[in-house]
Amino acid sequence: MPKILITGGAGFIGSHVVRLFVKEYPGYDIYNLDKLTYAGNLENLKDIEELHNYHFVKGDIVDGNFIHELFEKEKFDGVIHLAAESHVDRSIKNPMEFIFTNVVGTVNLLNAAKSVWKDDFQDKLFYHVSTDEVYGSLDEGGFFVESTSYDPQSPYSASKASSDHFVRAYHNTYGIPVIISNCSNNYGPNQFPEKLVPLFINNIRNNKPLPVYGKGENVRDWLYVIDHARAIDLVYHKGKVGETYNIGGFNEWKNIDLIKVLCKVMDEKLGREPGASENLITYVQDRAGHDMRYAIDATKIMKELGWEPSLQFEEGIAKTIDWYLNNQKWLDNVTSGNYKSYYEEQYKDV
Ligand code: NAD
Ligand code: TYD
Repeated sequence: MPKILITGGAGFIGSHVVRLFVKEYPGYDIYNLDKLTYAGNLENLKDIEELHNYHFVKGDIVDGNFIHELFEKEKFDGVIHLAAESHVDRSIKNPMEFIFTNVVGTVNLLNAAKSVWKDDFQDKLFYHVSTDEVYGSLDEGGFFVESTSYDPQSPYSASKASSDHFVRAYHNTYGIPVIISNCSNNYGPNQFPEKLVPLFINNIRNNKPLPVYGKGENVRDWLYVIDHARAIDLVYHKGKVGETYNIGGFNEWKNIDLIKVLCKVMDEKLGREPGASENLITYVQDRAGHDMRYAIDATKIMKELGWEPSLQFEEGIAKTIDWYLNNQKWLDNVTSGNYKSYYEEQYKDV
């Protein structure tokens, strides 16, 4: 039975990837390795934790000895690496965590794969999940393609860019079979409410101010998380070793326009007067070094692997809002405790 290690499987995207693999491939043994930081939550996987092919390992990818021993013991056939510190605002406050987890953690995994796989790479794969933010910031025109030069602008994107470089370097130098994918902004169920979509859904629900950075004119390219998980499945099974695949839904939104959609749909679902939630919009000081626009050209994965997003944005946003409204206990749990102090510090002027 092939053994696949998925790192960061208790987080937002990772939990959807773990669920998809555990359910779609009963013939694979899926190991979810996660440190359970503030962003990791085993509640996300409650529905599959009893399945025979799912295994959870609590651990830190920064601990090189631990990672090495785990690889020696389990002899994984494949790695899908998602564990990361993932929030730009936190990277601005505390870059070192990002360098430890995203850079050192990734190199620890590569070293372990290199040492355990030796030169026998038959049916082995190290798949590194990355972000479009490594390409930097666009003006109004153009798209990121796979050959766009890296130009990361935040400590988060610099740490992810660095990890991508190490993954390619280990392929080039040691022959480790690797694939990288770079995806645009994800939204959907189980996202920690520090990122735009779930933060604003939670604040609208609680009638709290909606802190829009700057003028709200920055543009992001949004993809429903399950479409990202489907793309990861396809890339893992059909992608070409050594290649990079950009993943995105050709779905660009100016922040303020997206926020207005959230307000409108939430008003309808909560039975509020039209326009009630928009009154919560509060313009606040811009994020330092705020990237203006991200836009992914996903032609390669569409043409070569036949992937396409399954959901239109309106449908995805409605499903997402329904999920948070139907899982208010999940939201209440993750926004208690440390979240409160994070929120007070990050949004002290709001
Ligand atoms: P997340 O913050 O929700 O989850 C990250 C997970 O990694 C958590 O479960 C956390 O506990 C775990 N983790 C963190 N540090 C760890 C460590 N040292 N050892 C082991 N586990 C650790 O992140 P996400 O949004 O699900 O992103 C997952 C991956 O996808 C990241 O690599 C991110 O860069 C990438 N990505 C995210 C997006 C997005 O929009 N969220 C878009 C493109 C790419
Ligand atoms: P975010 O979800 O943090 O993702 P990223 O910065 O990785 O793209 O932010 C998405 C956009 O929303 C980004 O342009 C910053 C903006 N934003 C706000 O205006 N207010 C907020 O409170 C947050 C968290 C983000």
